[in-house]
Amino acid sequence: MVLLKNLQRTVMTVSREYYKKKVFKNVHQLNVIRKASTTQPLQQEKQDVKVTFIRASGERIEAKGKIGDNLLDIVVNNEIDLDGFGACEGTLTCSTCHLIFSKDVYDKLPEKPTDEELDMLDLAYDLSETSRLGCQIIMTKDLDGLEVHVPTTINDARD
Ligand code: FES
Repeated sequence: MVLLKNLQRTVMTVSREYYKKKVFKNVHQLNVIRKASTTQPLQQEKQDVKVTFIRASGERIEAKGKIGDNLLDIVVNNEIDLDGFGACEGTLTCSTCHLIFSKDVYDKLPEKPTDEELDMLDLAYDLSETSRLGCQIIMTKDLDGLEVHVPTTINDARD
C-alpha cells in the first residue's frame, strides 16, 4: 500500500513538472507572438516611388523617393538643381516649391490644399488651377510614377 502511494506521488510530481514546463513553454511562445504582433510591430521597409520633374524647357528629371516622402524631400535627396526650390524647408512660408500637376493627377492627390497652402500659392508665379506646393504633397503608392511640371520662375514670398 505504501509502495503504491509512493508510486502515485512520484507520478503526480513528474506530471506536475511536465505540465509546468509545457505551460511555461506556451507562455513563452505567447509572449513571442505578442511581441511580434502588438508590442513591437514589424518595421516595414518603405516602398520606393518614382517621380519625374519636367522643367519648362521640357527636360525630364527622374528621381526616386519613398512612400511618405514629400516632393521637397525628393528634390533634396536626389540633389535636383532647381534654383531656389524649397527655400523655407517646408515651413509654408516661401512658395518656392510651387509645382504644376496635370488635371487628373491634381484631382487624385490624397490631401486637398489647406488655407495656408492656398495663401502661399497666391504668391507663386505661373500659378495654374492645378498648382500645389511640393512640400505639401506626400507620396503614396498611388502616386508612384508621378510626373510634375516645374514652373519657369520661382518666387520666394519671404523677399
Ligand atoms: S518649401 Fe517653402 S512653401 Fe514649400
